[in-house]
Amino acid sequence: MQDLIFTNARIVCESEEFTGTLVVRDGMIAEMDTGRSQVAGALDLGGDTLIPGLVELHTDNLERHMEPRPKVDWPHAAAILAHDAELASAGITTVFDALRIGSIHAKNTTYGKYARSVSHEIMQLREKGALKISHYLHLRGEVCSETLEEEFAEFTPEDRVGLVSLMDHTPGQRQFRDLSALKTYVQKKRSMSDADFEEHVDHLLNLREANGTRHEAATVREAARLGAVLASHDDTTADHVEVSRGYGVRVAEFPTTIEAAQACKLHGIAVMMGAPNLIRGGSHSGNVAAHELASRGLLDIISSDYVPYALLSSAFLLADLWDDLPRAISCVTAAPARAVNLDDRGRLAVGLHADMVRVARIEGTPVVRGVWCHGRQVG
Ligand SMILES: [Fe+2]
Repeated sequence: MQDLIFTNARIVCESEEFTGTLVVRDGMIAEMDTGRSQVAGALDLGGDTLIPGLVELHTDNLERHMEPRPKVDWPHAAAILAHDAELASAGITTVFDALRIGSIHAKNTTYGKYARSVSHEIMQLREKGALKISHYLHLRGEVCSETLEEEFAEFTPEDRVGLVSLMDHTPGQRQFRDLSALKTYVQKKRSMSDADFEEHVDHLLNLREANGTRHEAATVREAARLGAVLASHDDTTADHVEVSRGYGVRVAEFPTTIEAAQACKLHGIAVMMGAPNLIRGGSHSGNVAAHELASRGLLDIISSDYVPYALLSSAFLLADLWDDLPRAISCVTAAPARAVNLDDRGRLAVGLHADMVRVARIEGTPVVRGVWCHGRQVG
């Protein structure tokens, strides 16, 4: 395969940036230097920025493609391909597709079982070479549910499960300490009456009471069995973080308070916050604002959460806030890769996968001008 040469590029490494040339050979970064390439066929980036491909640890974007309208079940292969292409176009070259484990069947609300069949479909498409970017699984264990143990049991260590998160969405706790925020969210999403909402809350409280402790222990155990990194979700107090630390949690998804984020820092747990929170200037459920954590040095990883393109936008927003582009880019590349033990990507360095994004900034907005995954152009 012919070398792919990028020259006159603003190359962003983990702790520095420089203008120069980067050479890709056989899908890997083979050479990097500050010179200008005279080789015919070298791609002159005209000073555009070249950053590592983004690493996304927590996105439920696939759900939007599988259910484009309420109760519309879109063919899964088509949904997965559209999701994959959308991520590629947003500069994401590695994704951990988040799938809920643990069903809930109530009169007004059903969250059915789907993770096993969908992950099978993702991996089938991957094996056939149909996907543009690198896919791993992120299984989200909902402890306030019915069938968590049976659902986890259907996965094996061969399933590319890189991340398991421990979620507890019991009403009145963590993300939904404020019940009115939950009410607004659920009623809007599921169009419920006040009485239905109350019944829904009671049902969930009963599920937590009956299964919560057992499900929590099972999730921790399953993460170890599957060889996955364990993440906590919506930790709110220093006590929550203490429990997470005891479980061996390495990543804290969306801690909801400064207190929890500080405790994570103390215990070496990486703090992940949502890009939409950063861009909107606050959390949609009334929790701590990501920019507040960022300005206190308590933010390590950003996730696109429910808007793929937000990952790139939020990194440049952070670069402006910190006046440090390499540090901000690390939050969407090196830091998430390191958190899940992927040491073959996440940085522009010789010997790593050639996962790269060419970015131009037009009137402040970062615009993707090219995306390469393992040296192959995918966007
Ligand atoms: Fe949550």
